[in-house]
Amino acid sequence: MHSSSLPAIKAVDFDQPQMQGAVCGTGQAWARLPATPTAAEQRALKERIRALLVRQQAVLVAHYYVDAQLQELADESGGCVADSLEMARFGRDHPARTLVVAGVRFMGETAKILSPDKRVLMPDLDATCSLDLGCPADEFSAFCAAHPERTVVVYANTSAAVKARADWMVTSSIGLDIVAELHRQGKKILWAPDRHLGQYIQQKTGADMLLWQGSCVVHDEFKGVELELLRVEHPQAKILVHPESPAAVVAQADVVGSTTQLIAAAQTLDATEFIVATDLGILHKMRAAAPTKHFIAAPTAGHSATCKSCAHCPWMAMNGLANLADVLEHGHNEIHVEAEIAARARLPIDRMLDFAARRQSNVRASGDLARDGALFAQVGPA
Ligand code: 13P
Ligand code: SF4
Repeated sequence: MHSSSLPAIKAVDFDQPQMQGAVCGTGQAWARLPATPTAAEQRALKERIRALLVRQQAVLVAHYYVDAQLQELADESGGCVADSLEMARFGRDHPARTLVVAGVRFMGETAKILSPDKRVLMPDLDATCSLDLGCPADEFSAFCAAHPERTVVVYANTSAAVKARADWMVTSSIGLDIVAELHRQGKKILWAPDRHLGQYIQQKTGADMLLWQGSCVVHDEFKGVELELLRVEHPQAKILVHPESPAAVVAQADVVGSTTQLIAAAQTLDATEFIVATDLGILHKMRAAAPTKHFIAAPTAGHSATCKSCAHCPWMAMNGLANLADVLEHGHNEIHVEAEIAARARLPIDRMLDFAARRQSNVRASGDLARDGALFAQVGPA
């Protein structure tokens, strides 16, 4: 890895008050969390949302990290709960006129880029992502311009403008395979923004990668030393890790993968106990997929901690039943992406989706059903 030539990137402090108006930092996000409705209010809101989805010819596309009530509603109403690759595919292929994306901003933008003729709504347009915030388009563009010989690969967790500067977009479920293929073709990579995912892919593929130094505020908090101690207490547990986590955590994983891949691993691995290093929103689906198994949250605090994190994304938490009902009722919070940027950003996204489709048909043709569907987890020690 070319860590000696890492660019000097402006550090983004997510909680600075001067960011108000420009972006929604973690402090503002937590302060704006939707109130938890009572059980009776939940039932009424869900009923209202189901009726509005039908009336508006809309479908709900949710991420695994949002509130369990929203996940259930998406499943029950014919929508989907998925990782970011599947969310993109589902929204593109669904005939609904309106997509309601319960997740974070880049997911709504990707949906709009892939379906420019559909209306894309989000419960809160300020639900963003520290990776997106930490990779401003102008600075990223200057970084790319300084390395014109490199193939630009960006993670899905970026703005449309950053995607518009890229050759490829990847998600955590397919980034490794795409970079491995580019490396086979002799390409040198410029990668942004997640440094942990970039480092993991670099180590697995041996590709020549220049890394932007972004990170996820949630996954960056998982602690390698504390995880080692927890494993001593649970020697039979398998360790499931999202690759946005630091290398010391990834190194202890039995499975490294996207959210969908981690859920699949929880279901299929022959173990009854799992330690999970990703946003705790995922536990709702994991428990539903494997009800007899026991899931333990990976440590974010302890002797090696610098702060105590709750392992939950503050921006994902901005999605609630009440603001979802409101946007469906009034058509608020529509995502718009400037046409020129959208057209350019679509190229790297389509490349990824075409690659994913080819990979899926190759796997099916080979009859290797263990790698079929969306289940491409990197099983084995990282
Ligand atoms: P997945 O693509 O694995 O769902 O990850 C998205 C994300 O934001 C994880 O923090
Ligand atoms: Fe971004 Fe991290 Fe939240 Fe995912 S969990 S949306 S990477 S801040």
